[in-house]
Amino acid sequence: MNPNNSGRPTNSAYRPHGGVRGAEFPPRSSLFEGRFGRMFRTLPAARFSVGALQALAKIGNMTAEHEDQPTSEDEIDNEENTGTPDNPGIAAGYTYLGQFIDHDLTFDPASSLQSKNDPEALVDFRTPRFDLDCVYGRGPDDQPYLYADDGLHMHLGRKVTGSSFDPNTRDVPRNTPNPGEPARALIGDPRNDENTIVSQLQATMLRFHNRVADFLTQPDGQTPKFEDVQQVVRWHYQWIVLHDFLPTIIGKETLYDVLPQLKPEVQHISHFTPHLKFYKWNKEPFIPVEFSVAAYRFGHSMVRPIYRLNTTLKERQVIFPDPNGDLTNSLTGFRAFPEDRAVDWTLFFPIEDRPATGKTRVQASYKIDSSLVNPLGTLPPSVAKDIPSLAERNLRRSLTMELPSGQAVACLMGLPIIPDDQLLVGKANADDAAKNTRLIDISTEFRNNAPLWYYILAEAQQAVQHAAQKLPKNPSEPDKAAVNTIPTRLGPVGGRIVGEVFVGLMFGDSHSYLRQYPNWQPIPAFCRNGHFGIAELILQAKQWI
Ligand code: HEM
Repeated sequence: MNPNNSGRPTNSAYRPHGGVRGAEFPPRSSLFEGRFGRMFRTLPAARFSVGALQALAKIGNMTAEHEDQPTSEDEIDNEENTGTPDNPGIAAGYTYLGQFIDHDLTFDPASSLQSKNDPEALVDFRTPRFDLDCVYGRGPDDQPYLYADDGLHMHLGRKVTGSSFDPNTRDVPRNTPNPGEPARALIGDPRNDENTIVSQLQATMLRFHNRVADFLTQPDGQTPKFEDVQQVVRWHYQWIVLHDFLPTIIGKETLYDVLPQLKPEVQHISHFTPHLKFYKWNKEPFIPVEFSVAAYRFGHSMVRPIYRLNTTLKERQVIFPDPNGDLTNSLTGFRAFPEDRAVDWTLFFPIEDRPATGKTRVQASYKIDSSLVNPLGTLPPSVAKDIPSLAERNLRRSLTMELPSGQAVACLMGLPIIPDDQLLVGKANADDAAKNTRLIDISTEFRNNAPLWYYILAEAQQAVQHAAQKLPKNPSEPDKAAVNTIPTRLGPVGGRIVGEVFVGLMFGDSHSYLRQYPNWQPIPAFCRNGHFGIAELILQAKQWI
C-alpha cells in the first residue's frame, strides 16, 4: 500500500458540498442491469441471405502480409515501423480500453444467432452507465470476495514480471482450482479476462481504486467511505471516456458537435446541454442495438494479431493461437497466464517519449477499416463455440436483430450516402486499396444495402481510400508512405452513433459527474500539464504497491 498520503485535503474536496445526493444509496437489484432498444425505430430491417453475409465475412477476414511477421526478438530489432495496417492516430492500448468500456456497458449473453430477436425483450446484463460495474460487480454486499477485508480496497492477484516500466504489476485475483483446471479471474465481468491485455487493464483499474482510497486517507489515518472512493474513481474514468477515448475514436469535431461544452475555450459550465439528434429515451437510457451490434463493434478491426507485451520477453505474443491450440506465446485468457507476461503500458499508450521505431516504440492499433485480422476468423472455443468467425457473428447478429442498412441510417441522418462503387472490402492502405473487392461484387444483395457494421467500417476508411485513388499508376515509396500515415477514425455515421450514445448514457445517469457537478475536474495531483487521461490514470495506479 502506498504510505505516502500526507497533506491530503479532506475527502469532500473532490465531491460537491461534502457529499452527493443519492451516493449513500447506490443502485441495487434490478438497477444492476439495463435494457436494449432501437435508435432508428422507423427504419426497416435490412434483409440478406446468410450465404451473402458469410461471403462478406470471409473476405473481410483477410490475412495481411504483416501478420506473417516472425515473433523472434532478433528480427524485431531490425523491424521498421512501416506496417501499413498501423493506425498512426490511435495507439494499441485504446483497442483494449475500448473493449473494457464495452464490457462496462453491454452484455447480451442471451440473444439468438439463428432466429430474430426483439431488442426490447432482451436484458442487458450490464448497467447502461459508466459506473465500472465490470470492476465493482454488484457491490461488496453481494460479491464480497472481490473486496479486501477493510471494506475499502479491492483485491488484487499475484505479482507478474517483465515490465521495466512497472516492476509491481499485478494480475487480477484468481481462484485456486483443482489440478488441471484453469485459474479463473474473480472479477466483476468474466469477459475482462478474455485476453492478457484487457485482463491487466482490469487489474490497473483495481489498483487505481486502491490508489484513490489511500490518497483520500487523512494523515491522522481517517479513512474515506467506500462509496466516496468509488465515486471519485468513476468520475475520473468518465473524464477519460469524454476527454481522451472519445476524441481519439470519433474525432473532436463530432464530439464537440454532440457536447459543445467540451470545447477547450469553455471556462465555466453551469449545465451540460448535449445535442442528441438521434438517441432519445423516455424514462431511462437504454443500449441501442445499432450501437452494440454495429457501431461499437468497430473495435474488432483495431485488433492486431501480434503484440509485444514488454521489452524483456524474448517472443512477441499472438492474440489467439493457431488451430493446433499451442498457448505458449498466446494472449488467450480465462486462465492464469505465465508470470513473465506483465504488460508494459508504455508500449501501448503514449505515456513517455518513445522512438517511432524499434522495440520500445508505442505500438499502434490497426486501422479502423473493413478487415479483421486472421485470428479473429477462428476464435478459440473458450471465446465462441458454434460460429468461430467474429466477422460472421457480427453480421449475423445484425440480421437477427433486424438492423437497418448503413445507407438507410446515413439517409435518415441527412448525410451523403457512399455510392456502391466506393464501398470496398479490405485493408485501407496504399497497396491494398487498389486491390480491394467492391461490396456489390461479393453479392448483388448488397446493392444500396450494406450491413450497418460493415458500412461504418467502410466509411472510416474513406479518407485513405480517396488518397490512394489519387496516387499515380506507379507511385513512389514516399507517396505510398504518405497515404499510409493517414489516420482512420469513425466517420459521420459511426462517430455520431458512438458519440451520441456515450454522451447520452452519461447525461442520463443522474450519478455521473456531468449531472452532479458539471464543473468537476480530476484531482490536480493526478494531472500532468493540466491533463488527465488514461496515461495519467496508469501512472497513478502504478503508485499503489
Ligand atoms: C481481442 C479482442 C476482442 C475479441 C476477441 C472480441 C470478441 C467478441 C465476441 C466473441 C463477441 C460476441 C459476438 C457475438 O456473438 O455477437 C463480442 C461482442 C462485442 N464486442 Fe468484442 N472482442 C474484442 C474486442 C472488442 C473491442 C476492442 C470492442 C470495441 C472497442 C469490442 C466491442 C464489442 C461489442 C460492443 C460487442 C457486443 C457486446 C454485447 O452486447 O454483448 N470488442 N466481442
